[in-house]
Amino acid sequence: MAAIEMSHIVKRYGDGFPAVNDVSLDIADGEFMILVGPSGCGKSTLLRMIVGLEDITSGDMVIGGTRVNDKAPRDRNLSMVFQNYALYPHLSVYENIAFPLRLAKVPDEEVRRKVEESANILELHEHLQRKPANLSGGQRQRVAMGRAIVRQADAFLFDEPLSNLDAKLRGQMRAEIARLQRRLGITTVYVTHDQTEAMTLGDRVCVLKKGIIQQVASPRELYEQPANLFVAGFIGSPPMNFLPASASGGKLDTPFGSIQLDETRASKVGDRDLVLVGVRPEMFEDASLVDEALLDKGARFTAQVDVTEWLGDSQYAYIPYESSPEAAAKLKELAQELDGDQLRTQAIVSIDSTSRIREGNEAEFWFDTRKIHVFDPQSGENLTRDVEAGAELTRQASEDRKAQVERARAKASA
Ligand SMILES: Nc1ncnc2c1ncn2[C@@H]1O[C@H](COP(=O)(O)OP(=O)(O)OP(=O)(O)O)[C@@H](O)[C@H]1O
Ligand SMILES: [Mg+2]
Repeated sequence: MAAIEMSHIVKRYGDGFPAVNDVSLDIADGEFMILVGPSGCGKSTLLRMIVGLEDITSGDMVIGGTRVNDKAPRDRNLSMVFQNYALYPHLSVYENIAFPLRLAKVPDEEVRRKVEESANILELHEHLQRKPANLSGGQRQRVAMGRAIVRQADAFLFDEPLSNLDAKLRGQMRAEIARLQRRLGITTVYVTHDQTEAMTLGDRVCVLKKGIIQQVASPRELYEQPANLFVAGFIGSPPMNFLPASASGGKLDTPFGSIQLDETRASKVGDRDLVLVGVRPEMFEDASLVDEALLDKGARFTAQVDVTEWLGDSQYAYIPYESSPEAAAKLKELAQELDGDQLRTQAIVSIDSTSRIREGNEAEFWFDTRKIHVFDPQSGENLTRDVEAGAELTRQASEDRKAQVERARAKASA
């Protein structure tokens, strides 16, 4: 097992393009780290530099205390699982899993023991004599994982291992990987562009944009205290709404009425012609369903509802609003950066499933203003971020995690 330490890592491809740009990231021994970001942000490049499949232009890559920049992949003792599994079609499941052990000339008896052990963990024992072509996508994925865990690797590296699977299987395999990682307690770096995978699997998540780290934090810190517009918009589904507003004396004038900020946040925001107010969909509610005591903790407004979608446990309402051309252009630019497609200026709000608000009607909404964030549209900076509160969330997550790993290891050795 090993910690992975990256300092000022840069990757320039032949054309001089910096696919990874000055990345410094420390991954603790046993930690589950996610690399997430839109297509082309440099996730795979970074992973391939860790494993040794890609040269490092500059910076230091240190694994288990040793600088590995000039070490060949086979000398780094890492296990990688690719998106396309890369199984050998002519070999049985058993021999596919055994493959790294055969390369290392491990004695037959030990091979048998290790393959059976990992087949048990992955519930593949019934399939050991079959060929990969006859397996389902999920089974193939598990064979690829079996081949990765059969060796005593110092770390696991995954590059979008679930993206070929359908949604249901992806959910199952996600739980499988989480359980396996906790049980084995092996340092894991996992690349995905799926924010649900990032939030559910990671101890910490590293959000990348165009080769540059935007924020590294626990899922909850990313969600509650995003560093900037990009992180705020990338994490969460449906995404955070960004309402254009002007700020003056702690008062925000939004398309949904005005909001009074508390003193601390008011002084952080100051007076500005244009800010973007971040409100997550679940902070909204049908005003007629909000508790009397809560009403004055937020703001009420009336709006025309464009579309409603009833989901069973909640429902979404789409509320269009007017905005200045300047604000609309900013929102469009942001949507493009996020690989999104939202071109209309509308808020998506999540309200109680029992609400009678229907599309085409005017309705009264309420939203909780205690957890909103205010962003500078030019720099993207979150002006109201509480750095200490965020750090505390990540500290708690790391404590919980350590306790979990200890329990899992105690159980495994019992
Ligand atoms: N061999 C190469 N030569 C030149 N440029 C490359 C090469 N491989 C990747 N790039 C560029 O480097 C950037 C990062 O690519 P990378 O594959 O790391 O992205 P990614 O985050 O994994 O994206 P995806 O989610 O699409 O897999 C991209 O702009 C890509 O075009
Ligand atoms: Mg990739």
